[in-house]
Amino acid sequence: MLPPFVLTGAAASPSGPNAMDFWPNAAVAVDERGVILYAGDASKLPEQLQSLPRQHVEGVLFPGFIDAHVHLPQLDCRGRFGETLLHWLHDFIYPAESRFVDDAVARDVARRFFRALIAAGTSTAMVYATSHARATDIAFEEAERSGLRIIMGNMLMDRGAPEPLCVPVREAMLETERLIERWHRATPLLRFAISPRFAPACSSELLRAAGALASKHDLHIQTHFNETPEEIASVHSLFPDAAHYAEMYHTTGLLGTKTVLGHSVHTGIPEVQLLSRTGTAVAHCPDSNLFLGSGRFPLELHQQHGIRIALASDVGAGTTLDMLSVMRSMCHAQGRSLHPFLPLFLATLGAAEALNLQDETGSLAQGKSADIISIPLPVRAGSQGDLHSRTAVDLASALVFTGSYESVLRHWVGGRELSATPATTVR
Ligand code: GUN
Ligand code: ZN
Repeated sequence: MLPPFVLTGAAASPSGPNAMDFWPNAAVAVDERGVILYAGDASKLPEQLQSLPRQHVEGVLFPGFIDAHVHLPQLDCRGRFGETLLHWLHDFIYPAESRFVDDAVARDVARRFFRALIAAGTSTAMVYATSHARATDIAFEEAERSGLRIIMGNMLMDRGAPEPLCVPVREAMLETERLIERWHRATPLLRFAISPRFAPACSSELLRAAGALASKHDLHIQTHFNETPEEIASVHSLFPDAAHYAEMYHTTGLLGTKTVLGHSVHTGIPEVQLLSRTGTAVAHCPDSNLFLGSGRFPLELHQQHGIRIALASDVGAGTTLDMLSVMRSMCHAQGRSLHPFLPLFLATLGAAEALNLQDETGSLAQGKSADIISIPLPVRAGSQGDLHSRTAVDLASALVFTGSYESVLRHWVGGRELSATPATTVR
């Protein structure tokens, strides 16, 4: 239980793909459970909340960002040039992930990873750990310590990668069951995700077992999908009976409303129709797609078919955990003018909808968890005082097109203020 409080200052909160609330003089009231009691214009703060202790906050109060697809063990792998996805995985990623057999490596990277998320203003992340059960325990211990809202799982893979990363199906399922028991909803902020790496690294037996385990425990599923032509060719040769990549995931029980497919760059109409029918969501990773030269995400196709889309960094193919940079990459990668409300929505409320967390987080709204950041106003966007003369579009545009932060000003999750400094993560 926390003492209730009220934050005052400028605040904004995406309310739809084409809309954002903006209150130049806002109040956000938070109760002792860390739940938002009121968010809106300060002049309308209900009478009974007016006596709560107040803190004025610099910058702009905003819902904490959501990063819907990010690899913990790849924190230090950013910016390693590889000719293609599959070469990059073999040359840099598999060797880096293999080092997580060492507890000290697993602990050090996990600590720095969650601190970096706090600093970047990411309150919620859907995370891949490595295929090691012990390193996944360590990752969850550090996730719990961080105070962040984390959906995570051990990477499932049983072929096509160096021996130490591959875990045979039976062993992988036993270890995963134990991890689920220990970590799924161990606190209100932690959830377990079934995480088969992608079809080329998994036997069909492993994919089926993963689908069955997710369904047994009603868990999120995350995997990679249609990222590059070379990967897709390998899926066709490994699974010649499937009409396409999406059908193969469908027949192995991996599509559904709790599934988040990373990338979906080379997806055509029959596949998107199947994603739509099954209610499957997509994590769009524009910075990663630009880095690996994977291609342009067919945004309109996914929108037209009502696919829930969340924005994601995909570090380490993504070069930064800064979701404002990822938003800017999204606009640039589309090759046409994109209204800044859309990427802001896809990194907050839209992502919450894609991850089925919309009742908990994603916007500054009564009844949701107080997952709040304060973002410094971009230098080129004028002074704090100018906020009063701004429109919501003006502010959104300044944030998306000129903002870039490895470090936000302040960060609360569930009403608890977090700190990215090494000594104590939760302030
Ligand atoms: N496909 C399978 N594994 C990975 C990974 O770690 N990163 C990316 N970008 N794509 C993948
Ligand atoms: Zn990825």
